[in-house]
Amino acid sequence: KRPAGAPDKALAKPVKKVGVIGAGLMASQFALLFARKLRVPVLITDLDQSRVDKGISYIRGEIDKLEQKGRLSPDDANQVRALIHGTTDKTEYADCDWVIEAVFEELGVKQQVFAEIEPIISETAILATNTSSLSVHEIGANLAHPERLVGFHFFNPVAVMPLIEVVKTPDTDDATLSTAMQTARKLGKSAVITADRPGFVVNRLLAKVMGEAARALDEGTPMPVVERALAPIGLPMGPFELIDLVGWKVAAHVQDTMVHAFPERFYASENLHKLAEIESPLSKTKMGKVEDLSKAAKKALTL
Ligand code: 3HC
Repeated sequence: KRPAGAPDKALAKPVKKVGVIGAGLMASQFALLFARKLRVPVLITDLDQSRVDKGISYIRGEIDKLEQKGRLSPDDANQVRALIHGTTDKTEYADCDWVIEAVFEELGVKQQVFAEIEPIISETAILATNTSSLSVHEIGANLAHPERLVGFHFFNPVAVMPLIEVVKTPDTDDATLSTAMQTARKLGKSAVITADRPGFVVNRLLAKVMGEAARALDEGTPMPVVERALAPIGLPMGPFELIDLVGWKVAAHVQDTMVHAFPERFYASENLHKLAEIESPLSKTKMGKVEDLSKAAKKALTL
């Protein structure tokens, strides 16, 4: 059965080479997933070679782990390693038919990235953005062909989370949407088509949880209490552990976008921003479980 709003499968275009713009944690995680599941060449770029190298070394480490766990045979692991190529030369995107960006979560930066890439890629290539909460339509505002832009929003940890939010703008054409749905399927994920509204569906709800957790902190409830109190209601991890997983800066940014879009409904937490400036805001057990705020965090928040 077709998911709600999904166009005809027959319109989907083949994806034979993938370009990933950005080599941060999220981009590196899904670059690996594209290579693993689609078995096509994957290019990954960033602003400079050291960022590219960092992404590639993360990917190599993850491939090693998958091989050690027996999730990838040695042959498959070698094949996947060979498919992923890091570069700072954007002209190498010329023959990609699917280019997805996961650069800094700021409208101007994302628009600039697409302005640079659009003249390089072929007219039939699809552009996707992994934005977590910005308007996909606005990201594509200056594109010559906005009909080939779609939101394609992954969740952390990419290897494990089963969902992709596919975001349709008023311009997105059916071939683009159909290709996005097919690509999500080939990545082994289930896709939902969401409206192009701030936070789409998932982050709109998660930003509420994260914001209210930060508010509890502001009101004087200690962090371990907030974490522990929420565990029995069935959340797979506490809100602060989740913020830590997503990245404090990303979480603060999502929060800002939601507060800006719906000021009466979302909580602007200064503490979230203060914690995002600290290198390790949480203290954890040897097993990686969250214990409390770190000493530096307590000092910054003067708790
Ligand atoms: N990277 C790669 N793999 C990971 C991982 C990571 N960071 N964390 C866990 N895994 C893998 C483990 O290796 C394990 O794989 P295996 O079965 O091959 O050994 C598998 O996931 C399960 O791990 P655990 O045994 O540690 O299982 P848990 O039961 O502790 O589950 C979890 C871990 C799946 C991360 C779970 O805690 C969870 O679902 N947490 C909530 C995550 C969530 O809500 N994500 C959405 C964040 S919002 C977002 O990303 C959007 C953005 O725009 C902000």
